[in-house]
Amino acid sequence: MPTETLTVQLAERSYPIHFSDVAERLKVDISNLRASGRTVRVISDARVLEAHPEYLSQVGFEDDEILSLPAGEATKSIEFFSQALSHLAGTAANRDCALFAFGGGVIGDLAGYVAASYLRGIDFYQIPSTLLSMVDSSVGGKTGINLPEGKNLVGAFWQPKAVYIDTALLQTLSPREFAAGMAEVIKYGMLADLELFNDLIALKGLDVNSPELPAIVRRCCAIKAQIVADDEKETAASGGRALLNLGHTFAHAIENAAGYGQYLHGEAVGIGLSLATQLSVALEQMPASNIALTDKVLHQFQLPTRLNEPLKSSDLMAAMQRDKKNRRGRLRFVTMTALGSAVTTDGIDVALIEQLWCKAGAE
Ligand SMILES: NC(=O)c1ccc[n+]([C@@H]2O[C@H](COP(=O)([O-])OP(=O)(O)OC[C@H]3O[C@@H](n4cnc5c(N)ncnc54)[C@H](O)[C@@H]3O)[C@@H](O)[C@H]2O)c1
Repeated sequence: MPTETLTVQLAERSYPIHFSDVAERLKVDISNLRASGRTVRVISDARVLEAHPEYLSQVGFEDDEILSLPAGEATKSIEFFSQALSHLAGTAANRDCALFAFGGGVIGDLAGYVAASYLRGIDFYQIPSTLLSMVDSSVGGKTGINLPEGKNLVGAFWQPKAVYIDTALLQTLSPREFAAGMAEVIKYGMLADLELFNDLIALKGLDVNSPELPAIVRRCCAIKAQIVADDEKETAASGGRALLNLGHTFAHAIENAAGYGQYLHGEAVGIGLSLATQLSVALEQMPASNIALTDKVLHQFQLPTRLNEPLKSSDLMAAMQRDKKNRRGRLRFVTMTALGSAVTTDGIDVALIEQLWCKAGAE
């Protein structure tokens, strides 16, 4: 039986990720917070609240403790950051306030940054509601918002006090959003866990009712928890937390060049994972047969491996030059030395990347 609570080991900032009897546990924890004189607030989005109208009241939140923001990436902005801070101040939240995020990665990133900033930092809890946020964004403490100039340009490392993963919440998630979350699951297999990758191939597909889903979510959280424990603030000179960006240098360029919203993040990651495999093969780090294998597993989970309409290679390259991972003006990528084993690679030839973009359908 897999463990039902996992600890992210970060010394005095360690915290549990709960996987079982989650609603019950939340109810007890909220009641204990209140009993010790603490106040609670929740930030969520309108679509999640519409999909799960009773969830928050059932675990013990009052209506006037909930701030509902619009659904979508545009909410991760200075405007809504400011609105959320004003809401806390306007409802007299003080240092003993515990702030919960109930939603996907957008709400988790925004609420986490609000928690990191308000009164120089208040306690923060994550209740992720998308597959992507369960396997990735709710764990690890990266919080932040976007600027008009680019994604995630402002933020803080602010670890949650606990993460509550209730996969039952995924019942209402659209198949497209579910597939987008699967891109991050496949990513974990490719960068750190060959067995997970092989299990995904054998599964052929997965949906919210698959009996394998809870164990897969736990496995991804365990991989992320270990990587974060080893390199919390992504300061390792090579490898470390940056490995979680496998496929993401390509993905962020696609999202940027196509305009945010054209591709879901996970869809762009699907193409990015295919390209990262092709790059690893071109660098002679692994056999060419892995390209077909990676594309096969991505297609099995309804993810694209090529652009669905041509983007300009010059736009994609320009977006890559702005990537946060670059060092001293040189492109930095995460590549694989084998399926299940990733490394950071600097100084890759720009012409090689341009060739890969053309193969993916850029012009
Ligand atoms: N902090 C990190 O480490 C990290 C890691 C990966 C991604 N991210 C960020 O996460 C964000 C993407 O997260 P996301 O994919 O969860 O997007 P999201 O939060 O926008 O959620 C996707 C959509 O699903 C809806 N939704 C959420 N839960 C639902 C449910 N249970 N039922 C029905 N609808 C539901 C939302 O309202 C939204 O419309 C991006 O901003 C990305 O930058 C952060």
